[in-house]
Amino acid sequence: MALKLNVLSFPAAKHSAFPNGSQHRGSHRVFMASTLHPPSVEVGNAKKPFTPPKEVHLQVTHSMPPEKREIFDSLNGWAESNILVHLKDVEKSWQPSDFLPDPASDGFEEQVKDLRERCKEIPDDYFVVLVGDMITEEALPTYQTMINTLDGVRDETGASLTSWAIWTRAWTAEENRHGDLLNKYLYLSGRVDMKQIEKTTQYLIGSGMDPRTENNPYLGFIYTSFQERATFISHGNTARLAKEHGDMKLAQICGTIAADEKRHETAYSKIIEKLFEIDPDGTVLALADMMRKKISMPAHLMYDGRDENLFEHFSAVAQRLGVYTARDYADILEFLVGRWNVEKLTGLSGEGRKAQDYVCGLPARFRKLEERAAAKAKQASSVPFSWIFNREVML
Ligand SMILES: [Fe+2]
Ligand SMILES: [Fe+2]
Repeated sequence: MALKLNVLSFPAAKHSAFPNGSQHRGSHRVFMASTLHPPSVEVGNAKKPFTPPKEVHLQVTHSMPPEKREIFDSLNGWAESNILVHLKDVEKSWQPSDFLPDPASDGFEEQVKDLRERCKEIPDDYFVVLVGDMITEEALPTYQTMINTLDGVRDETGASLTSWAIWTRAWTAEENRHGDLLNKYLYLSGRVDMKQIEKTTQYLIGSGMDPRTENNPYLGFIYTSFQERATFISHGNTARLAKEHGDMKLAQICGTIAADEKRHETAYSKIIEKLFEIDPDGTVLALADMMRKKISMPAHLMYDGRDENLFEHFSAVAQRLGVYTARDYADILEFLVGRWNVEKLTGLSGEGRKAQDYVCGLPARFRKLEERAAAKAKQASSVPFSWIFNREVML
């Protein structure tokens, strides 16, 4: 059952007991750092700075039965030979500087000039989508945190030597290059308002995310399988569009990032494939559960200090440009259902069979809904985006 916690919107600091989230002065008592619990002053006023701009769900916690933790302990050796092999050696990895003007070379200024020339041909709506994708990548601390909420696989020390923890750290390290590269490219392009972009990133990391994965690695790895494929698709599409707009360098950048996402998708979906083999009933129930709740996008709590519906607006532009669409959502599910052979699962409980039917019927249902929504929503409107100096873009 979905319990909802209404966390109020951002421009909230002036009513908070803790303006700026740190000290407070005036008539309030000052609490020492050693005080474990915040004072229960101003009851009924839930507004706090650094809370998400939208309502988030009150999470069900630790929904994986404790005995199933052993599955993950016992898979440590399997993960070493089946999951860690999808990581790339740092020495053989690309780095953002491979794709950027070299500031130590004499040709630097010329290279920057060329980059800016190429970017002049690219329309505003493309930049809105690329910026949204970049901010999504920049909120990486949130995703590493999310994976480390998962029971049985979290990095217990920060330098744990389990395969799960090694994977999560190295995955994060690989992902870290994505936001870094896009950020530097966008900065050099001169086409976007970096301060507004940076504010959005700060707000987003401060807000976190609400994927409803319940500390449960079944749910968590279904989520990451889905998300890696979603980012593979969207970076692939920004690559295609950059090429159409004549910026081959940017196309190469987005394509290179997309290839990483694909490799990560392979690893995460292999984990779920293994869980289907060991525990088909539990895994199909987890998949149905995630799909009922819907896979939220990692940056769904995005805010720039101005637009209360920034994520919806960014998503609408991504949909219109065909970078990431409702059809992609249905395609991803269909792909994963096929990848995991969900239709052919046997020996399921009654509940498991129901979950199987539900999941297998979903892609077709999504498509029908999407067709109907597309037929309805035809009136064009545009909104200003602070990321591009408040210029208006069609939704
Ligand atoms: Fe990424
Ligand atoms: Fe990724």
